[in-house]
Amino acid sequence: MPIMERIHPSMPVYSVRQPNAPLFQAANGIYVADPAGDGGILIDCIFQPPYIKSFLEVVGKKVGTYIATHFHVDHSAKVHYYDSQGIDVVMPAKEVEYMRSADFLLEHAGLRAGGLDDLFHDKVMRLFGWKPVVNATGVSPGTAWNVGGIKVEMIGLPGHSPGHPGFTITNGDNEKIVCPVDLGFDHFGPWFGFPNASLPEYLESMARISREIDNAVAILPSHEPVIKDGYENLCNEMTRKLEGRIAAVQALMDAFPKGFTAKDGVEREVIYRKEKLLQPILPLFLFWETWMVEHICKLLVDRNLAEEIYHASDPPGFPGNVYRSTS
Ligand SMILES: [Fe+2]
Repeated sequence: MPIMERIHPSMPVYSVRQPNAPLFQAANGIYVADPAGDGGILIDCIFQPPYIKSFLEVVGKKVGTYIATHFHVDHSAKVHYYDSQGIDVVMPAKEVEYMRSADFLLEHAGLRAGGLDDLFHDKVMRLFGWKPVVNATGVSPGTAWNVGGIKVEMIGLPGHSPGHPGFTITNGDNEKIVCPVDLGFDHFGPWFGFPNASLPEYLESMARISREIDNAVAILPSHEPVIKDGYENLCNEMTRKLEGRIAAVQALMDAFPKGFTAKDGVEREVIYRKEKLLQPILPLFLFWETWMVEHICKLLVDRNLAEEIYHASDPPGFPGNVYRSTS
């Protein structure tokens, strides 16, 4: 059975986590209980199968809606277990097609154009037990659910993925729990390693979450335990990490006065140290790193610190744009 921790005395809201979960094979979830009926809500709750099965035995009949947050496989694999129990699966409309079709995911996450669709399908989706949920329904930010007087609202926090959401959970006394999902209050964020990520949107989402968490009673990230104090440092720390990565790419670009590509950044290990990466899926990590560097290059152009001196017209697999520092 996963660990269930009630977050606040006045709200039947629980953080649900798998103990000792292997890296990326689980994502913390939230259970908003419906004391009077079967309208409870689950958000994510991605665990390995024995944990999902024991969890469903306890809460399955009391839950009406399961919210899948985004298409990344540590959040979209295993959702079919909840669907198979007759629980309605919803997901941000911008990403619901990824949940309905592996083919769509491989195509639109850039994995096919990057030549990584077989590796991703066989070494990640299969390992994680990913199956489509064809009847998943799309919902937009601003959608709210009411469970026994508790309001669960989906808010837009895009950037990490196109429709990446967060959640505010409030009671009648305006006490608030905030779930930033994968925005990056964890040891590996901020992360924006797919071509469909957006760094400018990410920065806007960080500004929004810093306002949302201001008066919250608790923060529930997807990959860290519940946080109940020290919120102001969370956003500062995340901004510091992100600006550190941006500065590292900028400094490296300065060393390539004739032109710099994302691939140059990866070869110089500007974000990841190759020896520390999971070797069986090393090409995937290099793909993700390439796209993070590319997103940073584009941001440097937006900030007038770089210019694009060659624009590659290839479809998005590995980016081939060439940049030069203007600073
Ligand atoms: Fe994610």
